[in-house]
Amino acid sequence: MIIEPRTRGFICLTSHPKGCEQNVIDQIEYIKSKGAIDGAKKVLVIGASTGFGLASRITSAFGSGASTIGVFFEKPPAEGRPASPGWYNSAAFEKEAHKAGLYAKSINGDAFSNEIKKQTLDLIKADLGQVDMVIYSLASPVRTHPDTGVRYKSVLKPIGDKFQNKTVDFHTGVVSEVSIEPAQGDDIDNTVAVMGGEDWKMWIDALKNEGLLAEGFTTIAYSYIGPSLTEAVYRKGTIGRAKDHLEATAFTISDSLKPLNGKAYVSVNKALVTQASSAIPVIPLYISLLYKVMKEEGIHEGCIEQIQRLFQDRLYADTTPTDDEGRIRIDDWEMRADVQARVAELWKEATTETLPKIGDLKGYEKDFFNLFGFMVEGVDYDEDVNELVEIPGLQ
Ligand code: NAD
Ligand code: NA
Repeated sequence: MIIEPRTRGFICLTSHPKGCEQNVIDQIEYIKSKGAIDGAKKVLVIGASTGFGLASRITSAFGSGASTIGVFFEKPPAEGRPASPGWYNSAAFEKEAHKAGLYAKSINGDAFSNEIKKQTLDLIKADLGQVDMVIYSLASPVRTHPDTGVRYKSVLKPIGDKFQNKTVDFHTGVVSEVSIEPAQGDDIDNTVAVMGGEDWKMWIDALKNEGLLAEGFTTIAYSYIGPSLTEAVYRKGTIGRAKDHLEATAFTISDSLKPLNGKAYVSVNKALVTQASSAIPVIPLYISLLYKVMKEEGIHEGCIEQIQRLFQDRLYADTTPTDDEGRIRIDDWEMRADVQARVAELWKEATTETLPKIGDLKGYEKDFFNLFGFMVEGVDYDEDVNELVEIPGLQ
């Protein structure tokens, strides 16, 4: 079929197998061009199909020659109906990994559930024996608790006061005022239940109890801080409470890993266009200004550049530098004082009329469509493609 982008709000309903494949190949080539990383060899990636998790899987496999198991929740294709992009990404990743002689298998299902955890543990037992790294990169709006069956929904709301600021609809370029009512009732608890650290700890406990963690085992999850511009709706909002919980959980997990000489890290990553971040109000305007400034300074990075630097210069360097709160920081270039001062200036000037010039709206849009395999260089979109792609190592 010929596949074109079909958008609704901040999501794209279609995705392109060839474009997704090309994105994965480009990321693999980037990792290979940066040379070998002396990292983990048996890696489980939870949230492995898009964004930072996919970049982590690619970096592990093609930077360190790791065997990888990927867990994700993606929609398979049907006749005349393309899969979700993470499906095509994972198919392309496994095809390339197998070509390179690397072990790579995947599990598609709800990572929050006991069933998917058990299936993953069984696969590790059968194929790898143990893992020496778990990357936890889930981004989900909902979680059904495996013990109680309660379904939690996360919300993106400020805490205390109503939030009022500018935002942009990046499809139309229209800058407008957005106003978000503060969290009420169980909003905070619900968001912490979905995006906090409980499920990360459940995974590590389950693996540890079955003896599936190797001596010197490491695990890492991803967080975000960001500037004062977005603070009320992000870091000091409901999602920020979940990130506080995730970061605190790293210490609890580290304690539990002491007998194995293991450690749990949180890395604070840069703001990037992903399916998750496109859904957050205000963030797209911030990102379009940030991209402009960082590109001008020659310090812009995407997911793959971020994770390559995380592994090479932080995680697997001789020492792993952390901030006062024990977090690894690869948002260091985003948070540079000169970068933030410039973004804050541009923020004041941002209107529908000025944004095309002062912001990188084009870069935002391209990154957004790239997520779904569209607007990718070297792909012929007039070509008939097979939507029914299989993931070779899918269990
Ligand atoms: P993403 O949407 O690109 O990836 C989410 C992944 O989780 C996908 O692989 C998806 O299949 C998987 N997933 C979602 N629900 C699942 C479920 N129930 N079971 C199994 N898999 C499921 O998101 P991302 O932006 O790469 O985010 C990953 C992490 O990085 C998040 O913790 C996020 O907060 C953090 N982070 C993101 C940014 C950013 O700007 N995008 C910045 C810093 C940190
Ligand atoms: Na991810």
